[in-house]
Amino acid sequence: MRILRIRRFNIQRCAKIYATLEINGHLIARKFFSSKNASSYDSIVRFTTFYKDSAWKKEMVRFIGGKNKIILDLACGTGILSTFIPNGTANSKIIGSDLTFDYLRLAKKRQSYVLLTNSLAEFLPYKDNSFDVIISSYLAKYTNLAAMVKEHWRVLRKDGIIIVHDFTYPNSNLVRILWHVYFHILNQLGKVITSWQEVFSNLDKLIQLNPWVNNLVRELDMIGFRSISRNYYTHGTAAIVRAIK
Ligand SMILES: C[S@@+](CC[C@H](N)C(=O)[O-])C[C@H]1O[C@@H](n2cnc3c(N)ncnc32)[C@H](O)[C@@H]1O
Repeated sequence: MRILRIRRFNIQRCAKIYATLEINGHLIARKFFSSKNASSYDSIVRFTTFYKDSAWKKEMVRFIGGKNKIILDLACGTGILSTFIPNGTANSKIIGSDLTFDYLRLAKKRQSYVLLTNSLAEFLPYKDNSFDVIISSYLAKYTNLAAMVKEHWRVLRKDGIIIVHDFTYPNSNLVRILWHVYFHILNQLGKVITSWQEVFSNLDKLIQLNPWVNNLVRELDMIGFRSISRNYYTHGTAAIVRAIK
């Protein structure tokens, strides 16, 4: 596939509009992700999820199904997800989008995208009815879900699907104890791996404070999505929400 240049959209203007919205998750994301940790992201996500990241992404890709899809990989980061979409998945075209330019630079090297845009999930620089699939991994907790769902609805074609994956706070008390121990260790690790300190010390709070699954399902339902489903994985520490326009 031919790689196009990374398009920079007017992210400053979008950010100003965004500031008027209630949740400023993208400001947290800006602190978390930058040039200082872009090159180590792939290894960090693999090790810190005990390789579950690959299993979750394979599951997301399984949900895509069909052929000749135009797929938007929203908050694509360094583009790991695109590597799970086999070239053949059937002549699909993948467009990647993310707010962190230094992550997009690495995504570009993977050569799996036909277009990469430096943009916010809440203000997508695409025409109405452009995509068959919108897929995102680890974005939900950083976004204003109402604004994101509105944009999903606008840029998705009729019968298009959305697949949203992120971490969740487990329900079981036993798993919660282990979860907190794990994040305590991660917090300590952040003192050594300083480029990840900000993330390792705050990710647990972000996950706990953000019941994104219920909020997303509510927003999807309100705007008119159908066949909304949610699946939990790895003892309730991650979830995938799907819906059809
Ligand atoms: C943990 S990384 C995940 C990257 C990739 N999806 C993956 O699974 O490896 C989170 C990404 O979300 C992006 N991001 C966070 N909030 C965003 C927003 N509001 N709009 C666009 N991208 C956002 C960050 O820049 C970062 O690259």
